[in-house]
Parts: sequence; structure tokens; C-alpha cells
Amino acid sequence: MRVLVTGGAGYIGSMVCIELLNEGHELFIVDNFSNSDASAITKIMSITGKMVQYANVDITDRNALEVVFRTYSFDSVIHLAGKKSVTESIENPLQYYYDNLIGTVMLVQLMQQYGVHSIIFSSSATVYHPESICPIQEIAELKSSSPYGRTKLAIENFFRELCDAHPTFSAVLLRYFNPIGAHSSGEIGEKPLEVPNNLLPYLMDAVSGKRPPLEVFGNDYDTIDGSGIRDFIHVEDLAKGHIKALYYSMEHMGCESFNLGSGTGYSVLQLIETFATANKIEVPYNIGNRRPGDIAISFADITKAQQILGWQPLKNLTEMCQDAWRWQLKLLQEQRVEAQIVYPTKKTV
Ligand code: UD1
Repeated sequence: MRVLVTGGAGYIGSMVCIELLNEGHELFIVDNFSNSDASAITKIMSITGKMVQYANVDITDRNALEVVFRTYSFDSVIHLAGKKSVTESIENPLQYYYDNLIGTVMLVQLMQQYGVHSIIFSSSATVYHPESICPIQEIAELKSSSPYGRTKLAIENFFRELCDAHPTFSAVLLRYFNPIGAHSSGEIGEKPLEVPNNLLPYLMDAVSGKRPPLEVFGNDYDTIDGSGIRDFIHVEDLAKGHIKALYYSMEHMGCESFNLGSGTGYSVLQLIETFATANKIEVPYNIGNRRPGDIAISFADITKAQQILGWQPLKNLTEMCQDAWRWQLKLLQEQRVEAQIVYPTKKTV
């Protein structure tokens, strides 16, 4: 199949591209490199030994995106491009609605214009009502608590209505829980450009001494050890879910949503302990206050994805922590080499 991957140079996108290429599909990446860089594409090629075509295009730039649709033909689109910080979305909702929602509408306009009827959309567990009973099923009530989450929800609603109006269209909504880890080669993984908000990227910065000790946001929740519980899923398993969704989309019209998580909840303190044991390293941390807006427990019921997509996550929490740390060490090494490069300066006369 020929697949257009939006946001294909990002953390999750690059893993999806590797899986697609390993399965023998052809792909074209569009990315605006706002939270990634082209080195990810070089790595996708070196890991898979395959050529990848890409364009530096923002999906809200309809003319630039149209050039891609006019030049290449696609069987499906895997749509991951978008903004993803909760905090930033509260500060700048306009940008979030524009990039996420308008960007998706423009993409779908072009899909219709060029006869592409299948899309796999990167949604999030953040679309579920904060008080959902765990394990959360896809039929649970939807109600998000941030502008970021509400852009995901709005896009989900858009796809449902689109599929009702156009019965030949297929949209698969993948609700990610907490993706962590890195590619098992150690060559590619998450590369936050700013101070990380998410747990594992921050934890690794604390371990490597780049930032102060990790602050555990609350130890007074009603959980086994008082810290929050989340459903951590290895990013490679998550990426494989997209390939299953792609095959499903080729055979089924309409709109369907699937949870992609491990199906098991671990607490923040359990994650810290697993990371320390798996990598034989100390994790410096303090207990702090709850983070506003956080929920105590979130983990998925993944029965639907297992039964309908035939998808099964394979990697456990120890492997997630080992793969993440292997990549982090590689990244630190790369950054050290970059810092040592002396760039020639212009001579002033
Ligand atoms: C966050 C977002 C969510 C988004 C998801 C994936 C918030 C409120 N929610 O979810 O919308 O879909 O990321 O990107 O931002 N923790 C600490 N210390 C830290 C960081 C996190 O203790 O420095 C704890 C949190 O309180 C939470 C757990 O670790 O219990 C996971 O946090 P995080 O990685 O930010 O993910 P979510 O809160 O699940």
C-alpha cells in the first residue's frame, strides 16, 4: 500500500513509519518539523534500509499539501500531525484549534478531492471523561478537560459525522494511553525540544542530571501507594497497532475507535522502581503536590483492539524502561558530539 503519514518524523510517527516499511508498504511523510527534525527520517531509512520520500509541509498550508496529493497517489492516510501539550493548549487555544482541527479539515478536503477514503487518526485517552471507570472501554462517556483534549474530541466527532454522510469513507480513531520507550535498536526515540511535561522523559532528564530531581505529583491518591496510576504502552507496540488499523480500514467503511494501551495500570512510584531496577541506576525524586487537572487512575480495556484488530501488545514495563534508557544514552552521546563541533566563525577585518 502507499500511505501518507502526517507527522511522520515525530516520536510516534517515526515508529509507525518503521513498522510500515518493515511490512513492505511505501510511504510519504509530511511534517513541519516543529517538534522533530529531519534526522529522524535518516534514521528511519538506516534502520529499515529503505528509501523514504518526505516534504517539509505544514498540513494547514493547503497549497503545499495539495502538491503532495497531486504528485502522489495514496491508499490511506495515517494522521499524526498536531500539537500535543495540555499546558500550551490552555495558554493558546486558538493555535491548538487551528493546527489540530483546521489542519485535519484541510487534509480531509484534499483526501476527498483526490479520492482517498481511508484515514487512521491519532487520538488520545484524554477524550474520556476524567471520572471514567477503569479499565476504560471505548463506549465510556467522552468529555475532555483541556483545550488539547477537546481538539481531539472535536476531530473524533468530525470523523463520525463525515462517515455518516459518506458511507464509503473509513476512519479509525486510535486512543493512545501513555506511550513510552524507544525503538529497540536504540537509534530513535522521543526527543523533547523543551522541558518535558510527561513522566518518563522528565524522569530520564533527572537521572542524567540535566534537570532537578523528578517531582512525583501527589502521593495521596486512593491508589496502592498513593501515586497516580497510568497505562504505559511501548511505542513499538503502539506503532504496530496502526498497521492493524490500516488493514482493518481497508476492509471496513465507517468510523470505529480503539484503545491502544497495555491494559494494565502501574503507579508512578512503580514506574520509578522498575526503571531503577531495569537499568541498575538511581532515580532522584521528591514527592510534590498533585498536578492540577490530573486524574488518579487511568488504564484501558484493550479487548476491542485485541478481538477486532487482532492486535496484542508484547513488551512489558521493564523492556519499556530499558529501551527508553538505551535511547537516552545514545541521545546524550549524540548531543555531546554536537556540542564538541567547532563551527568556523566569520573573520572580521
Ligand atoms: C498527559 C496529559 C494528557 C496527554 C498525555 C500524553 C495532562 C494533565 N494530561 O497525561 O492530556 O494525552 O499526557 O501526552 O497533562 N507525573 C509526575 N511527575 C512528572 C510528570 C508526571 O508525577 O514530572 C505523573 C502524573 O501526575 C501522572 C503520571 O505521572 O500521574 C503520567 O503523567 P504524564 O506523562 O504527564 O501523562 P498523563 O498525565 O497521563
